[in-house]
Amino acid sequence: MTPSPPTSAERREELKACFTDARGCVRCPQLASTRTQVVFGAGNADADLMFVGEAPGAKEDEQGVPFVGAAGKLLSQLLGEVGLSREDVFVANVLKCRPPGNRDPAPVEIENCQEYLWRQIELIEPRVICTLGNFSTKLLRGDPTGISRIHGQPEIRVLGRRAVRLFPIYHPAAALYTRSMLGTLQEDFAKLPALLELPPPDQPEPVEPPVPEPEPEPAPAPEPVAELKPESPPDAPQLGLF
Ligand code: URA
Repeated sequence: MTPSPPTSAERREELKACFTDARGCVRCPQLASTRTQVVFGAGNADADLMFVGEAPGAKEDEQGVPFVGAAGKLLSQLLGEVGLSREDVFVANVLKCRPPGNRDPAPVEIENCQEYLWRQIELIEPRVICTLGNFSTKLLRGDPTGISRIHGQPEIRVLGRRAVRLFPIYHPAAALYTRSMLGTLQEDFAKLPALLELPPPDQPEPVEPPVPEPEPEPAPAPEPVAELKPESPPDAPQLGLF
């Protein structure tokens, strides 16, 4: 029998457990020793819309909350312009720890950390995932295509066990460095309300958990020696019992 899907309250509890695991993570020795704290993610644990950025910066590392610095303020502004707020969405990053000096995430760090992101996606069950910039776009698409080629183009992708609408857009920090990028980001954000109105994508058939093999019948216990019925006379030494 297929088990019933977890309730929202159960998923929330699991998400808290995932946070507890992440908080003590030491998979990346450098990040574990330089971070102030793990920045797990924040927002609505039942959100239809999830954002995935790159990695915490200095402010995020200090406060333990993603996107609270300059790029975060722009993210909140862009959301507000399309009638959404940070409370409506869940925001996370590919890396949960700040890379020192805000360097790029290293491939091994992405590999080490991705389990937390996949668990977040599975437990929050968003309908739309907006990847911000190259790192999250490449990771979740499993493909090296760069953001400039695919931003603003939603596609249905199966992530883990669920189909979602994946919507890659530029990282808001890009508009802090290149002002003309702001218009592009605003155009892409303007597509979000309609995307959220679409029905959820068809879900793949749930994979039936493997039916456990029946326990093998325990091998018959060797007959107690005392009950052996030796063919030879009981006092024969050839039974090999010592
Ligand atoms: N940039 C990110 O990618 N994530 C943050 O949390 C902050 C800045």
